[in-house]
Amino acid sequence: MKITLNVICLLLLVISSCGPFEKDRKALDTDLAKDAHSYANFNDVRVSHISLDLDTDFEKNILSGWAELSIVNYRGVKELILDTRDLDIDSVKLDNESLTKYSLGEASDVFGQPLKIKIQPTSKTVKVYYSTRPESAALQWLTPEQTFGKKHPFLFSQSQAILARSWVPCQDGPGVKFTYDAKVKTDPSLIVLMSAENKTEKSPDGEYTFQMTQPISSYLLAIAVGDLNYQSTGRNSGVFAEPDMLSKSVWELQSMQSMIDSAEQLYGPYAWEQYDVVILPPSFPFGGMENPRLTFATPTIIAGDRSLVSLIAHELAHSWSGNLVTNETWDDFWLNEGFTVYFEQRIMEKIFGKPYEEMLTKLGMGDLVNTINELEEEGKSADTYLYLNLEGRDPDDGLTDVAYEKGRFFLQVVENEVGRDLFDAFLNEYFENNKFKPMSTEGFIGQLYSNLLLTDEQRLAVDADSWIFGPGLPDNVPVPFSKELDRVEEDIAKFDNDIIAASQIDTSGYTTHHWLYLLRGLKKMTPEKMSEMDKAYKLSETGNSEIACDWFKHAIEQNYKSAYPYMEEFLIRVGRRKFLSPLYERLAQTEDNKKWALEVYKKARPGYHAVSYNSIDDVLEL
Ligand code: BES
Ligand code: ZN
Repeated sequence: MKITLNVICLLLLVISSCGPFEKDRKALDTDLAKDAHSYANFNDVRVSHISLDLDTDFEKNILSGWAELSIVNYRGVKELILDTRDLDIDSVKLDNESLTKYSLGEASDVFGQPLKIKIQPTSKTVKVYYSTRPESAALQWLTPEQTFGKKHPFLFSQSQAILARSWVPCQDGPGVKFTYDAKVKTDPSLIVLMSAENKTEKSPDGEYTFQMTQPISSYLLAIAVGDLNYQSTGRNSGVFAEPDMLSKSVWELQSMQSMIDSAEQLYGPYAWEQYDVVILPPSFPFGGMENPRLTFATPTIIAGDRSLVSLIAHELAHSWSGNLVTNETWDDFWLNEGFTVYFEQRIMEKIFGKPYEEMLTKLGMGDLVNTINELEEEGKSADTYLYLNLEGRDPDDGLTDVAYEKGRFFLQVVENEVGRDLFDAFLNEYFENNKFKPMSTEGFIGQLYSNLLLTDEQRLAVDADSWIFGPGLPDNVPVPFSKELDRVEEDIAKFDNDIIAASQIDTSGYTTHHWLYLLRGLKKMTPEKMSEMDKAYKLSETGNSEIACDWFKHAIEQNYKSAYPYMEEFLIRVGRRKFLSPLYERLAQTEDNKKWALEVYKKARPGYHAVSYNSIDDVLEL
């Protein structure tokens, strides 16, 4: 009996893997690569549009309403599997008529739960009635005290990488693209913004409608609700910010319109009509997030001297690399970020000149070398490849500076090989030919070889395989050069060798980037030197978040206690993970510092977004 069963199974296996089924499975040119971080059966049945109807409840901290998904059932299947995480599902309707059966699968902390919905091969829409939970990993509900104005509550989302599923049931992999529309109701004292066409004024009844008519991936779904005003910064750009922050923000981001114009000159028309930025409260866990038509940004870039605006160039560049041509899975993340850093530097060079770009690039190389060394020390060599293997892991853990900086330097190698004109022509064509489509690493290499690197000699010189499928930095890595920073290099040598006192560094003409290079380069710091520097340059009190973070790193290493009250204030006020992680990591190294950090964290944690507190919980082993 057992034998016959085995034989039957084997036969079925043979038929299904060599027979017409298998051929059919590969035959659809709509098929996407397997996505290790999504439960969705998107190669059987694909979501093409989502309509949302949501209410914001600032008492309960939940969104509730429905999501109606239009589907294309390529393979005539009877089940639609969506990604969800911490959603309460009330009911599900097919074609806005009949209730249908559904079930939630087993829950994973990272991936959430598959929502399995019974459908008919002829079903056109699936409407899910649901509400989010206060602990939704994407959403942060802020009390008025956590805003600048202190009068109104605030809500914002962060969907990348796989958090969209915690506020919208969807096929939550970057390869799936859909259009959307939404109706959102809130208190009339607040405005609702989404990654779509936005009104710039509050609506008297608190109701807002949105259209996103170009297809986007789920990680670009975004919402922000708060007391926000708007000011235009040019033909198709503008800034939303809380009333008290608006004029400062507009001043800081004065270069936005010229960034858009420069980007268009470099890589072709801006596809999304309007480009606005919303300045969020300080708990926003990232520097910026490239939500289409509306970049979300941390207020820590409002430094008062326009020195941190390259972040806007970066998020704007994603309007091409990422939002138009999208990494197919999170393993291909470098296609989003590496291209974007490269593009960002080209915009910065065009607007602020070559010496400015050179400083950014040299700082980027410093970050990259540190990241690679850390990953190697932790035995995570495979995370230093451009092409990642994040199967079974939270993608958030594997998305490091490597994708950004190693990706950028690889593209720099290609540029150096073929020359800027040819490379730019290639990139223009790449964005034009692949717009609104997912791109795999393999697909990119194919285009690189058939459209740009045509000879064996060029391919050998570029050595794409070592960059993409190998560890660390290949031999042909460019060596960044910056005359501006050479000057700082000399200051560092004099300081470290005690030739000059800490207060005698010639900082005239120093910009934020000189300071960062200096602080990162100083190797022989002592508490006395820190105190002397602090007297001369007031570094503990700096309003520049990037400089503050590097200064506090020294303070922890030197146990320079005068900076601790400032650091405490910083850790409580700012929720940007890029600053928090390195500080808490250093604090966790000694018993005394860890004790101090745990006390601070007790006060700070309630103000952080889930993205940040989940990382810091790990650092502090909570
Ligand atoms: N898309 C990223 C942010 C992101 C990446 C969120 C992966 C979640 C998962 C955004 O474009 C970004 O890179 N932001 C950087 C700033 C940039 C100038 C390097 C940041 O937030 O620090
Ligand atoms: Zn980015």
